[in-house]
Amino acid sequence: MGWGTERNGIGMCGIVGILGKSTVATNLVDALRRLEYRGYDSAGIATVEDGSLERRRAEGKLRNLERRLNDEPLAGRTGIGHTRWATHGRPTERNAHPHMTAKVSVVHNGIIENFRALRAELEAKGHVFETDTDTESVVHLITDEMQKGLPPVDAVREALQHLEGAFALGIIFAGHDDLMIAARKGSPLAIGYGAGEMYLGSDAIALAPFTDTITYLEEGDWAVLTRNGAEIHDLEGAIVERPVVKSVASALLVDKGNHRHFMAKEIHEQPEVISHTLANYIDMAAGRVNFPDLGIALDSIDRVTISACGTAYYAGLVAKYWIERIARVPVEIDVASELRYREAPLPPNGLALLVSQSGETADTLATLRYCRANGQRIASIVNVRTSTIARESHTVLPTLAGPEIGVASTKAFTCQLSVLACLALAIGRARGVLDRDAEAAHVKALTEIPRHVAGIVRHESQFVSIAQELSKARDVLYLGRGTSYPIALEGALKLKEISYLHAEGYAAGELKHGPIALIDDNVPVIVVAPEDDLFDKTISNMQEVAARGGQIILISDAAPHKVACKVAAHIEMPSVGTIATPLLYAVPTQLIAYHTAVIMGTDVDQPRNLAKSVTVE
Ligand code: M6R
Repeated sequence: MGWGTERNGIGMCGIVGILGKSTVATNLVDALRRLEYRGYDSAGIATVEDGSLERRRAEGKLRNLERRLNDEPLAGRTGIGHTRWATHGRPTERNAHPHMTAKVSVVHNGIIENFRALRAELEAKGHVFETDTDTESVVHLITDEMQKGLPPVDAVREALQHLEGAFALGIIFAGHDDLMIAARKGSPLAIGYGAGEMYLGSDAIALAPFTDTITYLEEGDWAVLTRNGAEIHDLEGAIVERPVVKSVASALLVDKGNHRHFMAKEIHEQPEVISHTLANYIDMAAGRVNFPDLGIALDSIDRVTISACGTAYYAGLVAKYWIERIARVPVEIDVASELRYREAPLPPNGLALLVSQSGETADTLATLRYCRANGQRIASIVNVRTSTIARESHTVLPTLAGPEIGVASTKAFTCQLSVLACLALAIGRARGVLDRDAEAAHVKALTEIPRHVAGIVRHESQFVSIAQELSKARDVLYLGRGTSYPIALEGALKLKEISYLHAEGYAAGELKHGPIALIDDNVPVIVVAPEDDLFDKTISNMQEVAARGGQIILISDAAPHKVACKVAAHIEMPSVGTIATPLLYAVPTQLIAYHTAVIMGTDVDQPRNLAKSVTVE
């Protein structure tokens, strides 16, 4: 097995916090233990003790932290804790959270995109950094505001304005025994209510031993916690009420949070899980891809063969564009149910990529065995690392999406794309066809994706009105060119599998070769058209649709005046680097399908006739 399967602790950082009636160290460690499933490679806690901040941290497992605490106990009643899965900087005690100055201590999950600029600015002001992490820039930023005289709440409010990225934060302050601040932008956070005690956790599972009364922070929220309760502020700073719900997390390891369906929760989790997947393949501090050894020299690969089923196949189809364009290696791709029987000749020095969320799909597994028997080096991109496909691969490239419960794949898809994008960059670099600057630009575009996805899900209401129109249709077409073509295919699959509407995706250039016959004023046409080098051609196709009365729903970053065509709706997208486009444009198609299915009253998480894992032919 390759590096991907040998490495331990792959996952997402975990955050906990307790404002307790008595010493909290033991309970913080208990809560962290419940987050162990997320994976970690160091852990730590900090408390407010006699007005000062104290912390204990340790590399490796929680038992190492417990040993530290046995030797040097922490007595505070207010504390935060963290399990870290290293992204920026090695998994050492020095880089372990909480990070702190004399005034403030922070635990963090996610990526602070502008940490380099912040660090340079703060160092120029005299702040001394001790770690390689992006988190430390948050600590010094808040400290800086407090040094200007701002009280903690105002200092955090100000600091949050300067942070770019997708993240969750838990913050405590020296001299403030009854205060904790939480902030959510992209990564989930739950607040728990006890009797005269308050809790904070990355999810309700962490808090299950203490309370089942939970509020999930919404995107952009930040909250001020005291033992009396929580005051929640939205992105604009207004004080808001969020629902208080009874969690079932103690009975179930995965719950829906405050979402109606697992699919909705999984769509919303994407900023976090994409971050963590990218962090597994990118050296964030260096801004370069850091790809595991595939057991084959990347510069000697003559051809890549990709195979998968359903959504995973569409991830592979996007990768074909990337690998051919960025790395200049020819790619053969086919659905696994065809490739396994085609008796396709495979080249002697070939790499075969099998993509599967479950890792159990029968056709994909059979194709893996065919490729392996025909001398291919096998790398699998799987979400379930204990799966059969993982076990039978030479190398496993895990997606870090966490359990995907909804039958319609969402977060697994964008995480598959994250791994495949990094692989294309790694092959391009190894072959000498991708220079350092181009690699850095692609890496930057990828690391910005979680923030942009968080921005799209924040404007979810626009998809409800589009879904209302779609729910009246009989047929829906999706069009796209380049990497937007597989996204059109995926969008159509998503809509048909959960809403039961008939939907088809086409390469926009194929429109004239048949599908245009379907267009009339009852047919919505969803056009995936980033303003790239193919945009003008797609606009021409849109004009053909408009001329026949088709209702165009455009997903594009192009300014409205550049869209020389009448559209029924324009989902305005941020402009991002080309490599980031398919990941980002998948999200509106997921939300369109989801809201259409909700309006149509189908069983969103378990649509008829479908299984999450297709282990038969
Ligand atoms: O577990 P896998 O990724 O191998 O599953 C492949 C397909 O069955 C799967 O992607 C299916 O198409 C989903 N229901 C799509 O949402």
